[in-house]
Amino acid sequence: MDEHKSPIRYGVIGTGMMGVEHIRNVAAVDGAIVTAVADPHPESIKRARRAVGTDVLLEEFSDHNEMLDSGLVDAVVIASPNHTHHQILLDVIAHPVHILMEKPLCATLGHCRDAVEAVTRSGHERVVWMGLEYRYMAPTQCLLAELATGAVGDVKMVAIREHRFPFLTKVDNWNRFSRNTGGTLVEKTCHFFDLMLQITQARPVRVFATGGQSVNHLDERYDGKTPDILDNAYVVVDFDDDSRGMLDLCMFAEASVNEQEIVVTGDVGKMEAMVTESKLRIGKRADGQHVVNTHEIRHEGIKHVGLHHGSSYLEHVDFVAAIRSGSPPAVTLMDGLRSAAIGFAAHRSIDSGLPVLMSELSELDGFDW
Ligand SMILES: NC(=O)c1ccc[n+]([C@@H]2O[C@H](COP(=O)([O-])OP(=O)(O)OC[C@H]3O[C@@H](n4cnc5c(N)ncnc54)[C@H](O)[C@@H]3O)[C@@H](O)[C@H]2O)c1
Repeated sequence: MDEHKSPIRYGVIGTGMMGVEHIRNVAAVDGAIVTAVADPHPESIKRARRAVGTDVLLEEFSDHNEMLDSGLVDAVVIASPNHTHHQILLDVIAHPVHILMEKPLCATLGHCRDAVEAVTRSGHERVVWMGLEYRYMAPTQCLLAELATGAVGDVKMVAIREHRFPFLTKVDNWNRFSRNTGGTLVEKTCHFFDLMLQITQARPVRVFATGGQSVNHLDERYDGKTPDILDNAYVVVDFDDDSRGMLDLCMFAEASVNEQEIVVTGDVGKMEAMVTESKLRIGKRADGQHVVNTHEIRHEGIKHVGLHHGSSYLEHVDFVAAIRSGSPPAVTLMDGLRSAAIGFAAHRSIDSGLPVLMSELSELDGFDW
């Protein structure tokens, strides 16, 4: 792979909503180009073609293995449905390409572990990057940067609220069933468990969750079956440094100002990132009650805003920079496993009605995660 002079040639596997989002973002990144796409669904290939533009050369494949064998790509984005991630990743690592793996890592915890181990064994020198781009939302980035300066002191509590619209319709409706997605608390909220891990820098010990499918998709039928995906939950996570996290998820809450609100409280102060409003609020206890500074957050460097407030663009800029410099990924497959593991534990807690110790996750026995 000679990445130092010529553009990084991307291949995108799965060109549905997120694959096309990646294609549009890559088009805005200096020194990167999408040269090939692979998707078995002809309509998705057409969407990719429209996103790239008719005047740009693009090889189209119905099978990702043919794309990998073509030698046309230096890096691949895996943006296919969650239950296909494990096998596709195993196929991809047999080739000397860099990888940007969409979240969640896999749809079962056993597959997550197997994926991390297989990539470690594969031996190729490459960048393998986990697509957890909520870290790149501008207000969240500012919050993480302020935290690193000790703005709130020692973090004690992290409360994350996501109140939003229901899951969108997907190709073949794969996201309507937990067996395909891993469950809502894996598929959707691995992003927020990743943020909790980033913010606390601690190990999760215990997870307690309650949740249900109360409003959405109850009147839908696929092959006679009703979707089984949760649309609301509270999840509490205890960390090993006595800090704790709480997730408040509601997916029938279009009537919200912010889609995400991230509140971090330490022994010195409190910060709140409001993602839709793009604001960061910071206050110190020593300054007294109701004394809070509000900052409007603008990231001047974003060249494509897309569907995720510019975070996917920033993710690709860093991915390409890591490929060019040979530096390690900022977001690793292990981050993918850890964030998904909390989601799997939360689902088990909902099923049993009891707290779940992370040490009880037998799929991770003997694995240093
Ligand atoms: N990071 C984020 O914020 C974010 C947002 C949305 C989706 N995603 C992730 O992106 C992935 C795709 O989701 P989506 O919303 O684009 O779904 P989608 O249904 O819109 O697109 C999935 C595409 O994958 C194709 N596909 C199915 N099997 C395939 C295979 N074996 N090889 C290649 N392509 C295959 C489908 O034909 C379809 O075109 C999922 O893992 C999802 O969790 C991430």
